[in-house]
Amino acid sequence: MIQYKNVFKTYDGGDSSAVRDLSLDIEDGETLVLLGPSGCGKTTLLRMTNRLEDVSAGTIEIDGEDIGKVDPVQLRRRIGYVFQGIGLFPHMTVAENATIVPRLLGKDADGARAHARDLLALVDLDPDIYADRFPDELSGGQAQRVGVARALAADPQYLLMDEPFGALDAVTRKLLQEEMLRLKKQLSKTIIFVTHDIFEALSLGDRIAIMNQGKLEQIGSKEELVRSPASQFVSDLFAAPKAQLREFRALLEGE
Ligand SMILES: Nc1ncnc2c1ncn2[C@@H]1O[C@H](COP(=O)(O)OP(=O)(O)OP(=O)(O)O)[C@@H](O)[C@H]1O
Ligand SMILES: [Mg+2]
Repeated sequence: MIQYKNVFKTYDGGDSSAVRDLSLDIEDGETLVLLGPSGCGKTTLLRMTNRLEDVSAGTIEIDGEDIGKVDPVQLRRRIGYVFQGIGLFPHMTVAENATIVPRLLGKDADGARAHARDLLALVDLDPDIYADRFPDELSGGQAQRVGVARALAADPQYLLMDEPFGALDAVTRKLLQEEMLRLKKQLSKTIIFVTHDIFEALSLGDRIAIMNQGKLEQIGSKEELVRSPASQFVSDLFAAPKAQLREFRALLEGE
């Protein structure tokens, strides 16, 4: 379980803030989607969760333990992170990229290679074809899959995914979302998945937390959010795609 308790992240001695008084609990096995506009604090919240940044105030607890008191290296073994914008190492092969964490932890080369093949198969990349390629020999969607494989390599209990499918075309994105649902069932991890795509949020989240300007606007199931938005911001958020759907239907029916 991950618990955020009155978490703040401020800059410039408190003059500006990325996260403001945010409290929420994420249950074991749950996929929580963080949804919100650019700059609302989503990446900052993830970065604080594995201590790439420290909180300015408040606490983050994982399994009841304040992460501020845990060794960051130990902490990151339990948390897989898929970075916004992928971040594969260009001079390493796909197999080396996928197993960087176990290799840093001392896994031998042969073991790592066998492990890499399993991980690539898990994210539906044929190891015979892709294991020895370099990142610049992959499509965007394939590179994203390697990013997911890398995050899964140390078999972490928790997975933080920062807009993993953000830069992809709609068809590839849909495909990876479906795969994400399959992986989620297969691996039963606790996942925080960041997006600013409403449809992605609706398809992947057990619950959705909506953020706006560093604050939590509302958290709930998709039914709760759509039926009873707690603020104008939340109802506007759902109004735009509803209007889009109506236009699309009208277009189809006009044909
Ligand atoms: N080191 C920093 N100093 C000052 N402000 C910062 C710093 N890092 C981030 N911010 C600000 O914090 C806010 C939240 O940034 P964050 O990266 O968490 O947003 P985000 O929700 O992930 O946005 P996006 O959807 O564009 O990725 C932004 O306004 C950003 O400019
Ligand atoms: Mg971000």
